Amino acid sequence: KTLVRTARAFTNIALIKYWGKKDQTLKLPWTNSLSLTLDRFYTDTKLTVADNDHDTVYLNHKLLDETQNKRILKYLDTVRKFYSFDDHFIVDTVNHVPTSAGFASSASGFAALAAAINETKQLNLNKKELSILARNGSGSASRSIYGGFVEWIAGDNNETSFATPIDENPQIDLTLLSVVINKGSKKISSTVGMENSVKTSPFYPNWVTLVASEIKEIKQAIAKKDIQRIGEIAEHNAMSMHALTLSANPSFTYFEPETIRIFQIIQELRQKGILAYATIDAGPNVKIICTNESITKVQKYIEEQLSNVSCVVANIGSGIQYI
Ligand code: DP6
Repeated sequence: KTLVRTARAFTNIALIKYWGKKDQTLKLPWTNSLSLTLDRFYTDTKLTVADNDHDTVYLNHKLLDETQNKRILKYLDTVRKFYSFDDHFIVDTVNHVPTSAGFASSASGFAALAAAINETKQLNLNKKELSILARNGSGSASRSIYGGFVEWIAGDNNETSFATPIDENPQIDLTLLSVVINKGSKKISSTVGMENSVKTSPFYPNWVTLVASEIKEIKQAIAKKDIQRIGEIAEHNAMSMHALTLSANPSFTYFEPETIRIFQIIQELRQKGILAYATIDAGPNVKIICTNESITKVQKYIEEQLSNVSCVVANIGSGIQYI
């Protein structure tokens, strides 16, 4: 009798962003990317082999209907084909989010699902193979297999595109403040947003060159534990990614007025000698790179200036766990 175990994966924040694929189906990126795994938001996924021929998906104890579970079902079909088995599953997945922290769930979600499949089907995949399996669900999920600083090597086929750890347990004074802007506006998914950027932004070739040099630089800064440099590079990289959405045709942006306001506040804080750098994903929320010393000042200042935002503190998290 097989023991049913739950796989847990933590989300990650990219310091050097993944923004564009050269292969949509395999999710092969145009560039490497580099992230930090966080401890505050994680996904727990439990799989049970079904005694019928269809998959059932529960998210936060609620049954998903056929529009909501489409992406997961398609992923399970891909995995069945790849590993040549017929089993269908009952997927039980729970997202642990501190009061809407504004973190995307696809990274931790597909990393936990890949790990749960590995356990339930006893595929005995190593971490590299697990990263490849997770990548097929969502690109950023490839990095959530590991803790700490992680690099996803772009590669050029399914076997050569996977994440690799840089430092899984870094002793570094880096803390992240996630500032949540509560907006009900419809957003463009990262899948669609990056596709439009690759196709239509005249700056896309420059982005590919930029990422190559910023990855090198940030790895040197990580080795030296130079938080200021890490922040500078991460902020520049994030703003360059958003320049790809603004320069797409038609142009689009994930920024809301509050996003810009927070960015200005961060610049003001730096003028006061407080360490704070911004990074922003495919949404309006801002994640601020801080130190243990600066984070309380940054949070206080932001909450004083903006009444309609909430803040969540996150620290460095670990890789896949089984509970
Ligand atoms: C801005 O991994 O969600 O967060 O591979 O299409 O599922 P798909 O995209 P996804 O994109 C993440 C984009 C990003 C940057 C990053 O995490 O590197």
